[in-house]
Amino acid sequence: MEEKIIIKNLNKEFYDPQRGTVKAVDNLSFTAYKGEIFGLLGPNGAGKTTTLRMMATLMKPNSGTIEIAGFDIENNSQDVRRSIGYMSSNTALYPRLSPREIITYFAELNDYSKENLTMRVEQIIKYFNIGDYADTYSEKLSTGMKQITSIARTIVHNPPVLILDEPSAGLDVIVAQKIHSYILDLKNEGKTIIFSSHNMGEVEKICDRIGIINNGKLLTVGTIDELRDISGKYYMEEIFVYFVKEFEKES
Ligand SMILES: Nc1ncnc2c1ncn2[C@@H]1O[C@H](COP(=O)(O)OP(=O)(O)O)[C@@H](O)[C@H]1O
Ligand SMILES: [Mg+2]
Repeated sequence: MEEKIIIKNLNKEFYDPQRGTVKAVDNLSFTAYKGEIFGLLGPNGAGKTTTLRMMATLMKPNSGTIEIAGFDIENNSQDVRRSIGYMSSNTALYPRLSPREIITYFAELNDYSKENLTMRVEQIIKYFNIGDYADTYSEKLSTGMKQITSIARTIVHNPPVLILDEPSAGLDVIVAQKIHSYILDLKNEGKTIIFSSHNMGEVEKICDRIGIINNGKLLTVGTIDELRDISGKYYMEEIFVYFVKEFEKES
């Protein structure tokens, strides 16, 4: 199996005037492979966004290493950026741009070859079924349409690794399911996808492997079946609670 994401002993601290030093990410390590959907599951404040932002080279770790598609975030950040599509959890779209313009803009931003640009944008619009609203100002779109557009622009340059921060948070089931099926399709195309979630059900449904994160620490990593075996629990919610308690016992 080809390693696409290698994270070793990652640490990130913040200083917060009220809480003092916050260990947002605490000695976190894991590996994700080509063609895998890796879910980072944890409650609010667990450290998911901070981890994904460091992977996307938007924030530097205090210590530890991240390698993506063979490139190191510190020494080859440019190559890392070219190799990823990153969708943040608060993807604001430019209100006065249409999906077609936004997707085109991101393709240009990522140096997509000018020659094939129009064709690629059309392909993406078709793939994501955006046609009906491709030329509408994004400020007029529904939350679901905006989210689909955000995913579309994240993959327009065809990166091998996708980093999606809570891609289905706040969406109704229909749109959430659409997004799940796109994520599964992209995996079948050989992409490596890491996404964060606090939704136990979705992680159980679409992830090949799940990393459970709480208070900045990765408590366990495994397939859903492995996590079920270890915990003796069936439902993700119970599995989650099991690992949180086990971790508290150990420390
Ligand atoms: N810029 C910041 N300054 C201070 N604390 C921060 C900052 N960003 C995140 N944190 C803290 O780091 C922890 C992890 O946050 P985050 O990575 O956003 O978690 P999640 O995405 O899992 O909800 C939280 O305690 C959060 O309050
Ligand atoms: Mg977050």
